[in-house]
Amino acid sequence: AEPLRIGIAGLGTVGASLVRLLARNADALQARCGRSLVVTAVSARDRARDRGVDLSGFEWFDDPVALARAQGVDCVVELMGGSDGPAKAVVEAALETGRPVVTANKALLAHHGAALAALAERNGATIGFEAAVAGGIPIVKALRETLAGNAVHRISGILNGTCNYILSRMELEGLGFDEVLADAQRLGYAEADPTFDVGGFDTAHKLAILTSLAFGTQIDAEAIHVEGISAITPLDLKMADDLGYRIKLLGVAERTATGIEQRVHPTMTPKTWPIAQVMGVTNAVNVMADPVGELTLVGPGAGGDATASSVLADLVDVARGVALHPFGQPVASLEKAERAPMQRH
Ligand code: NDP
Ligand code: HSE
Repeated sequence: AEPLRIGIAGLGTVGASLVRLLARNADALQARCGRSLVVTAVSARDRARDRGVDLSGFEWFDDPVALARAQGVDCVVELMGGSDGPAKAVVEAALETGRPVVTANKALLAHHGAALAALAERNGATIGFEAAVAGGIPIVKALRETLAGNAVHRISGILNGTCNYILSRMELEGLGFDEVLADAQRLGYAEADPTFDVGGFDTAHKLAILTSLAFGTQIDAEAIHVEGISAITPLDLKMADDLGYRIKLLGVAERTATGIEQRVHPTMTPKTWPIAQVMGVTNAVNVMADPVGELTLVGPGAGGDATASSVLADLVDVARGVALHPFGQPVASLEKAERAPMQRH
């Protein structure tokens, strides 16, 4: 079979990991897909930067939109970030030419997911975004595929690795907020602008995507009540600890009698609860659904390799010819959800 020719726009933490893993796992991927997955084109801002991976065999594009339209590219991987600007232009260019897109960009999907999914449908293309929610945890596939026969009542969890890493190390090691945030940035966990992490907006972007998948509703990031962790002090964590609690930044989406309630905020969780025991960059997603009941997926929520693992899953789907609707059903059939007022919890 013909190889799948991949163009990668963005060679930072996730993009560089992806290049390395595609080379390292080439034989196993070929065996599983029945064809090889080969990178043919790459794009980033700084051509001279050493990224720790060999880029010599790939065509370099200074303009990522030109990469998305290039003849030698069958599938476009967008790993640049940002909800507008070049990332959106790259995804649109690929979809307009009928090329499947794989992206880790939750900000883009939270703001433009419905329009991009409609564009994909019009052009017979697909958008894979397993990497956009909870890093290496396969929650997008779980909701879109494995749990497709369920009615979800509630989906909640720790959806931002940077915030959980900060809260964990502040509590366990007594370190200051800024010091731990700097470590999260150095390790490649944080967003290019870490305000998205600590302000709760990244969790909200992921929650908006999960809500759409779980409830079959249109993405509505504006409907989410958002509070981050910037104001959490070591004293808050100590007082919670004395009372038998841990503070976790949770995202929660729940079907209530008045509509779908979506909220992101620091939450006092009893230390005996499994979610309170999730520490470091680890994420956890809890789903309550009928008929399956309750289940929780726990795993690495950020980092180059964990995130690239999810990108690889979507690339395998593309190579195998799996063509699902991005949100599990046609965009036109997604309901406009009633926004439920915030309850006291
Ligand atoms: P980085 O900031 O490390 O990398 C971004 C890359 O995009 C860089 O290579 C940069 O080029 C390139 N880039 C930015 N703007 C342009 C442009 N205008 N033209 C060409 N290239 C450009 O980001 P990450 O790898 O951390 O994240 C990538 C995406 O994955 C984001 O959407 C992020 O939210 C998402 N994500 C990240 C996770 C993580 O753990 N890091 C986890 C899950 C999702 P240059 O290197 O030359 O500056
Ligand atoms: N900055 C994000 C986080 C990356 O810390 O969770 C993974 O989406």
